Amino acid sequence: MSAVSPLRYQLKRPVFFVGFMGAGKTSVARRLARDCGVASVDMDTYLERREGKTVKEIFDEGGESLFRTIETNVLKEITTKPPMLISCGGGVVTREENRAILKEAGFVIFLKITVEEAAARIHNKESRPLFNNLESARQRNKERLPLYEEVADVVINTAGKSTPKIAFEIQRLLEKEGLLCPQQR
Ligand code: S3P
Repeated sequence: MSAVSPLRYQLKRPVFFVGFMGAGKTSVARRLARDCGVASVDMDTYLERREGKTVKEIFDEGGESLFRTIETNVLKEITTKPPMLISCGGGVVTREENRAILKEAGFVIFLKITVEEAAARIHNKESRPLFNNLESARQRNKERLPLYEEVADVVINTAGKSTPKIAFEIQRLLEKEGLLCPQQR
């Protein structure tokens, strides 16, 4: 019996996933990591472990400005590690300093979604202090759109696509870019 040698991949640079809350950044990064055998990290989860507090607790304690300061420190920390797939919090692009880091440190994928679709996907709205209602989310998304576009190396429309489908589309793209390289196990 001849065994087919499964491929595993190596990531050449960090790959950042940006986009509005509910765009699927974490699910897509996780799925791609699993499919390709590369590491992934979710910035909010990393931040919560580092601080020993939830995002909501940080917002309650020091507001958005405290959260953004910690978020910038986390971004700096993560970019010193070996390349990973990094799902960023939706507001990472609001600071100019963060946008400069994203552009400089790796390849940025903007997962684009409408606020209506995002709302349908987000089950635990309590955990997202900045997704309070549809109207304010629409406004926030409108303000951020040019910032997502500014940092993006590529824009992927996620409307109507499943997580595995988006992950596969990105896998192909990263292989083509020479950022994801197959290796024999
Ligand atoms: C935020 C998005 C959240 C989290 C925080 C703030 C934002 O991350 O970082 O609640 O400003 O859009 P997700 O995009 O993963 O929900």
